[in-house]
Amino acid sequence: MKSAAALIKWTPDLSIGIDAIDEDHQAFFRLAALLRDIVDGGENEKLQLIETAVNILEEYIEGHFQREQMAMAQANYDQMVEHIIAHDAFAKRVHAQIARYRGTQDLNDIGALGPMVADWLVNHIMVVDAKFKGVLSNENVDDRPMAYLAMDRNTCETADMPGSSDDFPIGVVPQEEGEQISRYGEEAR
Ligand SMILES: [Fe+2]
Repeated sequence: MKSAAALIKWTPDLSIGIDAIDEDHQAFFRLAALLRDIVDGGENEKLQLIETAVNILEEYIEGHFQREQMAMAQANYDQMVEHIIAHDAFAKRVHAQIARYRGTQDLNDIGALGPMVADWLVNHIMVVDAKFKGVLSNENVDDRPMAYLAMDRNTCETADMPGSSDDFPIGVVPQEEGEQISRYGEEAR
């Protein structure tokens, strides 16, 4: 099968001016293109490449969201709760799409993943990340590779950092608004 839609690319107008976060965003677009190329390419080793790519995507999501959320916490950013809710909702969508593919092994399910990532990211950068432009800076962003941050996110219950909206004090996350947010893979509480 060929992926029908052209994939959006990162362009400098999507820069939010923080080096590590801009590099993360570009990595997601490269990964979205890789997923598209795998689906469009030959059969050889396709399944292993897909599994590798989706594992990297899951790690990137954990690591990149952790990077932004640690910086927002350090800067006492006043729109952190809404931002983390947006991150959690998207992570749930991606994890669900990957789980669907793993259940069906249908390349259409994996083919949908590249555009899902690129389209969401463009909108998120321009609408949500853009609001912390000028509030966060290179100085308050942890610039370690995403893999290290992903590990931190999985142990953040013991750290003084928000790993997901579950970590907010009770009452901070408005319960009446939309779906309740959970840690990935768990049922909403
Ligand atoms: Fe974000």
